[in-house]
Amino acid sequence: MRNSNQRNLFLLFVFSSFASVVLARNHLSRGSSLAVKDTDDGLLISPDRTFSCGFSSFGTNAYYFSIWFTNSKERTVVWVANRDKPVNRRGSRLTLKKNGVLLLTDYDGSTAWETNTTSTTAETAELLNTGNLVLKDNSGNILWQSFDFPTDTLLPHQLFTKNKRLLSRIGPRMFGSGYFSFFFDNDNVLRMIYDGPEISSIYWPNIAFDPFQNGRTTYNSSRIGMLDDKGTFSASDQLQFSSLDVGSGIKRRLTMDFDGNLRIYSLNESSGFWNITWQAVSKPCDIHGLCGRNGICEYTPEPKCSCPPSYEPTDISDWSKGCRPKFHRSCSDSEFVEISHLDYYGFDLNYTKPASYEFCRQLCLEDCRCQAFSYRLTGEGICFTKSSLFNGVRVVTFPGSLYLRLPRGAQTSEPAILNVSHLVCGSKIVVLPNTYDITNQRFKWVYLYSFATVIGAIEVVLLVIGWWFLFRKHGLSASMEDGYRAISNQFRSFSYSELKKATVNFKEVLGKGGFGTVYKGVLGDDRVVAVKKLENVVQGEEEFWAEVSTIGKINHMNLARMWGFCSERKHRLLVYEFVENGSLDRHLFLARTVFGWKERFKVALGTAKGLAYLHHECLEWVIHCDVKPENILLDENFEPKISDFGLAKLSQRGGHGSSELTRIRGTKGYMAPEWAINLPITAKVDVYSYGVVILELVRGIRLSSWVVDDEQYGIEEIPEMVKFVRLAKRKIQNGEDSWVEDLVDPRLEGRFSRNQAAIMIEVGLSCVEDDRNKRPTMESVAQALAECEDEMLMHLPGTL
Ligand SMILES: *[C@@H]1O[C@H](CO)[C@@H](O)[C@H](O)[C@H]1NC(C)=O
Ligand SMILES: *[C@@H]1O[C@H](CO)[C@@H](O)[C@H](O)[C@H]1NC(C)=O
Ligand SMILES: *[C@@H]1O[C@H](CO)[C@@H](O)[C@H](O)[C@H]1NC(C)=O
Ligand SMILES: *[C@@H]1O[C@H](CO)[C@@H](O)[C@H](O)[C@H]1NC(C)=O
Ligand SMILES: *[C@@H]1O[C@H](CO)[C@@H](O)[C@H](O)[C@H]1NC(C)=O
Ligand SMILES: *[C@@H]1O[C@H](CO)[C@@H](O)[C@H](O)[C@H]1NC(C)=O
Repeated sequence: MRNSNQRNLFLLFVFSSFASVVLARNHLSRGSSLAVKDTDDGLLISPDRTFSCGFSSFGTNAYYFSIWFTNSKERTVVWVANRDKPVNRRGSRLTLKKNGVLLLTDYDGSTAWETNTTSTTAETAELLNTGNLVLKDNSGNILWQSFDFPTDTLLPHQLFTKNKRLLSRIGPRMFGSGYFSFFFDNDNVLRMIYDGPEISSIYWPNIAFDPFQNGRTTYNSSRIGMLDDKGTFSASDQLQFSSLDVGSGIKRRLTMDFDGNLRIYSLNESSGFWNITWQAVSKPCDIHGLCGRNGICEYTPEPKCSCPPSYEPTDISDWSKGCRPKFHRSCSDSEFVEISHLDYYGFDLNYTKPASYEFCRQLCLEDCRCQAFSYRLTGEGICFTKSSLFNGVRVVTFPGSLYLRLPRGAQTSEPAILNVSHLVCGSKIVVLPNTYDITNQRFKWVYLYSFATVIGAIEVVLLVIGWWFLFRKHGLSASMEDGYRAISNQFRSFSYSELKKATVNFKEVLGKGGFGTVYKGVLGDDRVVAVKKLENVVQGEEEFWAEVSTIGKINHMNLARMWGFCSERKHRLLVYEFVENGSLDRHLFLARTVFGWKERFKVALGTAKGLAYLHHECLEWVIHCDVKPENILLDENFEPKISDFGLAKLSQRGGHGSSELTRIRGTKGYMAPEWAINLPITAKVDVYSYGVVILELVRGIRLSSWVVDDEQYGIEEIPEMVKFVRLAKRKIQNGEDSWVEDLVDPRLEGRFSRNQAAIMIEVGLSCVEDDRNKRPTMESVAQALAECEDEMLMHLPGTL
């Protein structure tokens, strides 16, 4: 005990003397100053080195006196003294004057910034370990602190109080004041507001609800909030949220970002990068002011701004300036253009309910100020006439349209919405987890986090073991990075000979798929695997490795796990976990025994969850493109595992031209209509294919096959599916009591849950809608099914 204390003291001594000699000081005494210098003597550094303080610049010759994290890869500034008044490099100084003022002067001696400590006895300016820059007198009293003047960032232990606000920057690489702020409003509630040159608009918390519905209170007027050591922010209005990695020992910050979102960032000290571990707004288009006046925010799926027809961007590099009309506004002779699912928030001239469309139109025509009207037909019609168009959001779930007023003849033939990015199947877009519903977010993240911790621990163990093996068994001179690369995620590279041995020279064929043949194999460690020999892979090794390793990182119980790959000369192989019960098609269509209801429902739900994960939750956003029973594997408990996801990208034959790409994907009968008509491919193609599969689960036959339709068109060949959908819709419309019983697989002889079957049919029918906007997302499908998961035995007459 004593010994170790002594050693610590010794180390401390060595370190501090080292620090004082070689490194910068942590304080500035009365009469001395800092200048813009690249060396350490232009800096103050906190005793534990977490924070540095000195001059920063972005761009040329514009310097800011600031505080930043010493160890992040890119300088992360947490406080700026003169954010709207930069100084020149040469001749600018920060001085602690004899009269107690900390003064920032420009090259010509003019004052750029100063503290309110004139005529005090401030002796030193000191940078503390918390990131707080304080002015102290001789007896240690704090006369001024940077913590009282936050810019866009709040640090742990920094009190956020009345009259303080976090004000965003104007852009990602600029310090200047932007338009978004986080503050205590007059009713004691923490809010976020866009306060721009033209409008001010509150957008958080959810503006559709009052404070209490948002879980806040207006009654506590102490107006105080703080981010603690463990990553939890709590405030007097009962707002509380925590970072995903909640716990001590991690450096974090709460920042009002330039894009209007409030986020907690956590520093990964080994890589020096920041990770977002909480954010306030899950759907970025809910942030007001993002797309400016007349602009429209839309998910593609990443949020994008665009202009309505006959409008053009004011400044393509700055969307906050919005769109300007390409026509001359006039009051007479107007016409209206409908843009479905679009709404502009606020600036209503009038709100009328109930109202007919014609009445609403007339109301707008009669008022010269009216630039557009929004009309919703939810039960009775609701009419809003608009004097200005701000905060435009277009989401398919919005049950109404916007009718834009244009002078007659102004409308051109351009498409209504510009620059919606076109996605190529299998392409991956890195998105923040921003599609989560904010209310579910904490729960999911906590779950994810505990999961990640376990995986992390396993990974460390595997890493150590892996290295030991690498060096011992093969004597490879692998660098640290290669070692990590090979073993992280339990995902590794195999040699061709290893796989050849595992599969006994590719003897036992498990199946043939769109990407090649699958063989059964047993690895050296007795793991049973499925080895897929890919054909038509044109990618080079690096590219292949990059693709495959992202697939290898995807981990969900309803997705077949990839253990590794082989890329040697012309060979490209993938190694998957072996899934006991083979693919769904065998059980559903080919087996002699009837596939039971319980299993069918389990497959429907699990597959929906797996696809929802691919579409919405994993960081690398993936469209499967070939959902069908052959690609749904069943484990020993008949829990489904989707295979072949992420592979669409690997076999771009020839690799040129995305239109070529779109034609070769998918399997006839499961392919959404948009494949044929050359529309951009979205996750909705998977929803369609899933719809076919879930209807097949209900019906028990291949609906994707083609049959002769004798009913309506004589001898025309149509997919069985079309026939089934027509039948189902007719029965539902006619209100036939037995519609469920009539549509379910007769081989089940009534042994099924009626509620579950009804939901599955309804979900299936909506998934196979031709208009993809009418199809639900996989997330909502999974939710709908999960809600009736527990019905199981109660409605099964046969099993009771
Ligand atoms: C300087 O301003 C801060 C915050 O407004 C205040 O708390 C402090 O008392 C002021 N100091 C002096 C010396 O006036
Ligand atoms: C108001 O909030 C503060 C900080 O959260 C808390 O300490 C205080 O007890 C609250 N006051 C009342 C009256 O609830
Ligand atoms: C931190 O970064 C390192 C190196 O990039 C990475 O291996 C590690 O997983 C990261 N840790 C966390 C918690 O993200
Ligand atoms: C953490 O951030 C880095 C870069 O900022 C990113 O590459 C990495 O994927 C992030 N990790 C997680 C787990 O979000
Ligand atoms: C709103 O419309 C109604 C007619 O529906 C009219 O009576 C009322 O004056 C209008 N209000 C305003 C503020 O224009
Ligand atoms: C749309 O994209 C094209 C090229 O990608 C660009 O030239 C054009 O300015 C963009 N228009 C808008 C409104 O963003």
